Amino acid sequence: MRKTSIFISLLISLSLIFVLFSCGVVFAQESSYYGGINPSDGCMTCHSDKDLEANGKSLYIDEEAYKKSVHGNVLCSECHLGFTISLPHPEVKGDSLRVASLACKDCHKDVYSEYKNSVHGKAALMGKVNSASCGDCHGDHYIKSLKNEEVKDEFWANAEKICGECHQDYWENYGDYYHGQAYKVGFKKAPTCWQCHDYHNILSKDNPNSRISDENLYKTCEECHPGSTKGFADGYGPSIHGLQEGFEVNAVLKWFRGLFSWFPW
Ligand code: HEC
Ligand code: HEC
Ligand code: HEC
Ligand code: HEC
Ligand code: HEC
Ligand code: HEC
Ligand code: HEC
Repeated sequence: MRKTSIFISLLISLSLIFVLFSCGVVFAQESSYYGGINPSDGCMTCHSDKDLEANGKSLYIDEEAYKKSVHGNVLCSECHLGFTISLPHPEVKGDSLRVASLACKDCHKDVYSEYKNSVHGKAALMGKVNSASCGDCHGDHYIKSLKNEEVKDEFWANAEKICGECHQDYWENYGDYYHGQAYKVGFKKAPTCWQCHDYHNILSKDNPNSRISDENLYKTCEECHPGSTKGFADGYGPSIHGLQEGFEVNAVLKWFRGLFSWFPW
């Protein structure tokens, strides 16, 4: 009787050890996979070479910086869909880098569901390569977490690059005294583009759901100006980008600005 119970407890302990051991093995495999770039992905064999380039464009990826990015555990081929380690690389349908800069949608489903109905998303999905893809605003290999306040501040201050590269006119004419000029000298309370326009859900002014539509504008202002009314928004709203519109309609003004191009309009 006693012998059987010793035998049974021995059996149970052994099976427990076995189960724990197998978990350990699986876990160890998981952590070596997630500990960095999966070796089986193999892309860094070549792309860690600082001199690797094609058509004068560097193809070097900084592995350390990549690992520190928010996608340090993401496989290269999860954005570079269809890429393998074989050379020449496969012909990917369409522009392969464009495909990568929209591949984000497979993992960031919530963001994508907003983006796809925005003015940028709609245009990008129709194949307009000059519209903003995820990668155009966020960059590619070294994306950092926006939960970090410093990163968020850096992003906030970077509107000239993030929006201004494609909307140079609206970057330049964002120059009213209270908002644009204040923003450009780094006044933290002044709004960056997406505090008025939103970011994944940017819509044009004619869309009634837009944050700058005739119906909604005063609500957008209200976020910083409690008690904002339609009169306040309609009165002041047009002058936020007013400088440029003035220049566009008024040829004399435009000519005048040309003469004084050194002046920070
Ligand atoms: C054996 C070396 C080698 C390996 C391994 C390798 N690449 Fe490349 N890669 C190259 C070379 C050479 C080029 C430039 C010529 C070309 O585009 O085929 C290139 C180009 C690229 C480009 C630029 C394509 C473009 O349209 O500009 C991307 C993106 C890329 N590789 C991603 C990857 C990914 C992702 C992997 C892993 C799945 C990988 N590479 C593995 C050598 C390699
Ligand atoms: C989060 C998505 C993402 C991941 C993960 C990713 N890439 Fe990219 N990669 C991009 C995007 C977007 C571009 C295109 C940038 C552009 O339009 O110039 C790009 C461009 C490239 C290029 C072309 C040269 C350049 O820098 O523009 C190479 C080479 C490349 N990636 C290799 C890799 C390798 C190797 C890995 C893995 C270590 C990797 N990528 C992981 C999104 C990604
Ligand atoms: C027009 C520029 C733009 C485009 C296009 C864009 N983003 Fe963003 N994204 C932003 C800005 C701005 C923020 C907010 C920064 C902040 O929090 O201050 C942001 C925030 C995020 C965040 C953090 C979480 C959140 O929702 O605040 C994720 C994740 C993200 N974007 C992924 C994507 C993906 C995936 C796509 C494509 C489907 C995309 N973005 C397209 C500008 C853009
Ligand atoms: C294979 C899945 C995958 C792909 C593809 C992918 N991401 Fe991510 N992304 C993640 C994970 C996982 C995180 C970290 C968890 C989180 O914060 O959501 C992350 C985090 C982020 C963040 C930081 C979120 C925050 O709250 O600060 C941004 C921004 C982001 N990704 C943008 C992109 C963009 C842009 C692309 C395409 C160029 C892309 N991602 C492609 C999985 C992915
Ligand atoms: C890669 C280029 C690119 C980037 C980056 C970009 N945009 Fe755009 N944006 C476009 C294009 C192209 C359109 C027009 C799309 C279409 O064909 O309807 C557009 C449309 C718009 C519109 C609607 C304008 C209209 O006439 O209907 C607004 C508002 C806007 N963008 C704001 C922004 C803001 C704010 C940012 C930064 C957070 C930004 N965009 C970043 C290219 C870009
Ligand atoms: C304080 C709020 C505010 C900020 C910040 C702001 N805008 Fe605007 N934006 C507006 C308003 C209001 C309009 C509509 C102007 C009008 O009524 O003529 C507009 C119009 C636009 C349009 C044309 C939209 C359309 O559908 O015709 C674009 C593009 C644009 N802004 C881009 C930007 C960019 C890029 C930045 C950052 C450099 C920026 N905006 C910052 C409030 C803002
Ligand atoms: C993200 C915050 C933010 C948003 C959104 C914003 N503003 Fe402002 N605004 C400011 C700041 C900061 C000042 C300068 C400090 C002050 O006087 O409150 C300012 C000042 C002003 C002033 C002059 C002083 C005053 O308070 O009357 C007017 C007029 C104004 N804003 C109109 C608008 C209108 C119209 C909108 C919407 C289209 C708008 N603002 C959206 C932040 C914002």
